[in-house]
Amino acid sequence: MVMGEKIRNWLDVRIGLNELIRTQLAEYRVPKNINVFNALGTIAFVGYLIQAISGMFLMIYYIPHSDHAFKSVQDIMTIAPYGWLFRQMHVIGSNLLIAAVILHMVTIFLMGNYKRPRELTWISGALMLLLTFTFGLSGYLLPWTQLSYWATTIVTSIPTAFPVVGEYISRLFRGGDYVSGITLTRFFALHVSILPPLFLILMAVHVALIRRIGLSATPFGKSDEEKRPLTEFRKKTHPDGYPYYPYLVQKQALMVIVYFMVMFAFITFAPTFFFPEATTVPADPFRTPETIRPEWYFLAPYQMLKLIPNKFLGISMLIVVAFLFVFWPFLDTQKEKNIFRRPVLRWVFISLMIGWVILMWWGKR
Ligand code: HEM
Repeated sequence: MVMGEKIRNWLDVRIGLNELIRTQLAEYRVPKNINVFNALGTIAFVGYLIQAISGMFLMIYYIPHSDHAFKSVQDIMTIAPYGWLFRQMHVIGSNLLIAAVILHMVTIFLMGNYKRPRELTWISGALMLLLTFTFGLSGYLLPWTQLSYWATTIVTSIPTAFPVVGEYISRLFRGGDYVSGITLTRFFALHVSILPPLFLILMAVHVALIRRIGLSATPFGKSDEEKRPLTEFRKKTHPDGYPYYPYLVQKQALMVIVYFMVMFAFITFAPTFFFPEATTVPADPFRTPETIRPEWYFLAPYQMLKLIPNKFLGISMLIVVAFLFVFWPFLDTQKEKNIFRRPVLRWVFISLMIGWVILMWWGKR
């Protein structure tokens, strides 16, 4: 027996490798009419892997202390071997990852793939998106720059719009009246030790549900889902579909390559794109910069809060929107999955997108 076969046999005896390959790759069938958009979830997964690995390398040199954080990040960029590469991958990766997760969610929404029995898949995904934003927010403070300091000051003041509990929540995040070294320690703990296990649990739920239920076919073209009431579980096995390997794996591999190409295009041709001027100045609690802008993915809600004079009302509206988003599968009770056959929902979606882009553009000015 050649070496490869021996190893395979060894593993088969112990973990049932051959059966795993057969059930998870060959017999696991995906619908014929899926497309590259079905690989976006995988991109999000790979994006997270890149964050975890580059983050581990950054942690070797990063010092989570207000006296040293800024300098340690500068050292990572200039002295530590390949430190610049891991930092670029982590920062650019965080932006690309958020874009990929948003795109994944939008395509799931447009194809109506959140409908029964996939409500919990949507909810676990929506919670992961909120966690992803929290990752971004907590990571933003860590380099201890002017931008990170003042952006965090604004964000941590938001809860104070609520009477009674607001002050408490704000102090809980800041560890005092102002953003300080204590805030940095708390955000570091959040970023590297509280959020990752929460995320992993949600991810396990998300993937387990997808595997249990089976992928949905795209609703464009032939109608796919049963219109009967769902009283018992029926796995979507797609007997007329293609095996997961190589059909969908090829699409996933292609998308992962595109993801890496975009990332390295930024690193090579626009290395300062995600590092504006204020990210090169150390935090100074006594000097407020002229403009403080959050990351692009927070621009629209940020601008919305600026436009609504009553802070309490503005933030309450955002919380309501977050709830509507997480529990959307229970609010949309129509059976039709194809958004082209749902004019009202289509227009609501288009208006939301236009509103979002206008607010983003406005917030950036
Ligand atoms: C944050 C990281 C996320 C990861 C790593 C992730 C991962 C995945 C993967 C690997 C798939 C299977 C392939 C595919 O359809 O793309 C998938 C499907 C799915 N995702 Fe996500 N996802 C994430 C976020 C979200 C979000 C934000 C939502 C919605 C709010 C969501 C809702 C769904 C649903 C409903 C499916 C099932 C699609 C079907 O059955 O056809 N996911 N996800």
